[in-house]
Amino acid sequence: MLGSPRVYVINDPHLIAAVQRQPKVLTFQAISDNFAHLVCDLTPAALEIQKSETSKWLHDPKAVESPSGTIYKALSPTKSLDEMNRTMVNALQRGAHNWVPSGKESTTTALYSWVRRVVTVAGTEAIYGPMNPYGSAAMRKHFWTYNAGLGRLSMGNSGSFFARDIKKSRAFLAERFIQYFSQGHHLEASGLTRQRFDWYTSRGFSLCDCANFEVGNGIAILSNTVPAAFWHILHIFSDPTVLAACRAEVLQQAVDTKDPEGIVRTLDITALKKSCPALQSAFKEAMRVHSTAVGMRGVVQDHILDGKYLLKRGMMVWMPATVQHFDRERWGADAAEYHHDRFTDRTRPRVNNIFFRAFGGGATLCPGRHFAMNEILTLTAMLLLRFELQPTSGAWVIPTTVNTGMTQLMAGPDFDVEVNIRRKSDDEGVKWAWKLSESDHETFAGSDEDRLDELDEKKTGML
Ligand code: HEM
Repeated sequence: MLGSPRVYVINDPHLIAAVQRQPKVLTFQAISDNFAHLVCDLTPAALEIQKSETSKWLHDPKAVESPSGTIYKALSPTKSLDEMNRTMVNALQRGAHNWVPSGKESTTTALYSWVRRVVTVAGTEAIYGPMNPYGSAAMRKHFWTYNAGLGRLSMGNSGSFFARDIKKSRAFLAERFIQYFSQGHHLEASGLTRQRFDWYTSRGFSLCDCANFEVGNGIAILSNTVPAAFWHILHIFSDPTVLAACRAEVLQQAVDTKDPEGIVRTLDITALKKSCPALQSAFKEAMRVHSTAVGMRGVVQDHILDGKYLLKRGMMVWMPATVQHFDRERWGADAAEYHHDRFTDRTRPRVNNIFFRAFGGGATLCPGRHFAMNEILTLTAMLLLRFELQPTSGAWVIPTTVNTGMTQLMAGPDFDVEVNIRRKSDDEGVKWAWKLSESDHETFAGSDEDRLDELDEKKTGML
């Protein structure tokens, strides 16, 4: 759709807001269609349907919901998201029994690989249900090989010529999803998976292409949640001040009761978002510092941005998050540094949501942000309350990130950090009950209201 476009880089926040108010002219859909075309091995028939669906949405002034609309509905704070969150919490809780093998006091592991496994298993079980294909180690291994090769695949023919192993992994994943859908396992899965499958089939996509798309969806689900969780955990555990602040706050939310077998400690994960400002600030700060997101839009028709700048059809718009995230005028002279309390310290200037772009912005503000945040905060809370982490080298090191690929929205570490995981002594004999009592509610990460405000010409005063 876009040929080989030139790029307009936009860093002015006022112009970013102006871009976001034109989702059908400066559109993310063109970018995501193109990306799916390059990385998902879609058949020619699928490309035709995809083109026609996008074109219908772009050119029908009454069509509000983009082809991604189903995903937004399923992932917004409703019953469907609650069910996913509950499954994710249960999966983490089950897994936590084995984080330190029974009979052992501690275990040594590479932290990034560990987070990757734990987050992949729990997150995908919530999405794909009891017959989750990612439950298999082979599936996970092929997914991460595929994910590491996205840079090459997205270069088109020139890059993918050298991508034999990556394509083999992609074919493996697609085959597993064909089996999954053809055996009807999606019928027991989350609303997200069921509704997405219904949408694809109702538009005429074949089973094989539904599977191809689902392989690509793994990128959205996993490739940024894993590094975000890793940085959040690493920053907390590597600094005794941050560790103490977050641990005390989370511990306050745990309620002890007694049953015939001993203490039952209950934690409602709703509290992690509602009543744990230090934990949330630390999370948002890790996202701010390690985000590499570039908001991309395809220009589908000539457009005068903000009444001044001509953007030519067929070109691309890039809005790099790092420019906003490291702006010293907004965040202060220490903008490049991690400070866990940046978002709670009242002596600092308040910064508008538009300058926090780790989840993008406007009509395409990441629909998975609620789920990702729940998963990351729950995993962190389980570690804080039940385990100690120590670097085996004796000193914590924050890895560099220079090898992060162009397709990543969160930087990945250049090397892993080996840690010793030990069960806390006060966890002995405690029975844990993790629950989710209330539906999700909006938090710092930009609300659906912001999403709409940015689209509303009359409410441009937000800057
Ligand atoms: C910490 C983890 C995550 C980060 C940092 C992240 C970041 C982003 C960003 C930057 C965008 C582009 C938005 C734009 O340019 O306006 C995006 C889009 C998207 N994200 Fe996420 N995301 C995360 C987790 C998730 C999860 C867990 C899911 C699914 C369960 C998900 C699903 C999506 C989808 C489907 C889109 C495309 C939306 C569209 O086509 O309109 N994301 N994400």
